[in-house]
Amino acid sequence: MIEIPTPDDWHVHLRADEMLEAVVGYSARRFRYALVMPNLRPPITTTSAAIDYRDRIMGVAPRDTGFHPIMALYLTPEVSLDDLRRGADEGIVAGVKYYPAGATTNSDGGGSSLSDFRGLLEGMAEAGVRLLVHAEATDPSLDIFDREAAFLEHELAPLCAAVPELRVTVEHVSTRAGVEFVGAHPRTAATITPHHLARQRTDLLADGMRPDLFCKPVINSADDRDALIEAATGGVGPFCLGTDSAPHPTTAKYGPRAAAGIFNAAYGLEVVAEVFHQAGRLDRMGAFVSGNGCAAYGVETPETTLTLTREPVEVERDTQLETEAGDQVVLFGAEEAARWTIS
Ligand code: DOR
Ligand code: ZN
Repeated sequence: MIEIPTPDDWHVHLRADEMLEAVVGYSARRFRYALVMPNLRPPITTTSAAIDYRDRIMGVAPRDTGFHPIMALYLTPEVSLDDLRRGADEGIVAGVKYYPAGATTNSDGGGSSLSDFRGLLEGMAEAGVRLLVHAEATDPSLDIFDREAAFLEHELAPLCAAVPELRVTVEHVSTRAGVEFVGAHPRTAATITPHHLARQRTDLLADGMRPDLFCKPVINSADDRDALIEAATGGVGPFCLGTDSAPHPTTAKYGPRAAAGIFNAAYGLEVVAEVFHQAGRLDRMGAFVSGNGCAAYGVETPETTLTLTREPVEVERDTQLETEAGDQVVLFGAEEAARWTIS
């Protein structure tokens, strides 16, 4: 049994409408702060849209939790520094998310290069607003498993050199190259997802192709996963939990082209606990799911805790949810959840 500070989720997709209603309770029962991604249609690009979205989230979130969404804006030419400053000063907006156009779900409004946003990024460095990066090159000639490393080398490294004061979160880091990049760049932090910690590409492809394990950046090799586990279980440092929980209806996951995204808000914490247990590092789970993110985002550590117990659970865990609109979503991690009780 271990007791950990109530975790924060520094990267989550809560969506809108019926999907939002169906998923928000899973995040609220586990997490205190949740940094909510802005890739809606249309994307969230202003503080007032972020406030409106936050109100919609709180309007359907369960009332008896300490759940608190923090918002991000989607980096497009529409984002203005004055508006961003207001959002940051008021404690609504914690960062601006850069999506390379075409890299992932709802990224068509994204950019073709970080260098196109240099003026805004310099202003963000001065204002102390973080850049959140989907670090994946979109060059079709590049192998899909090499795209994170390519983006870091050709896009993010030049930016870090040119604007060294800018604080950056490399989101859902998925490779050894990504871990090394964060280690070598002092102003960077990184989120790591439960699924990149607990699975590898052989799980995705070897025993029947698994759309439920398909996400961006794609789950990479066993060696990459090992580097992520070492980083996550390393104790105090720049690596923190961001679930990247991203629900898609089964109709979108199991069609001719699987949508990228894994819904793990339900059991992501159990998955992380199992990874830390297997690594013999449960004592460091609190740093990964709480302390490191609090330090990176400058928020206070929580006063509340969760207790995790590893024992077989008798009830069978749900493997799907259903929205009011009749969509089904597969829950990631039911297997790990059958070994843990969290209270
Ligand atoms: O797999 C992913 N799904 N990666 C992302 O970056 C976006 C997310 C989504 O919104 O579905
Ligand atoms: Zn995401």
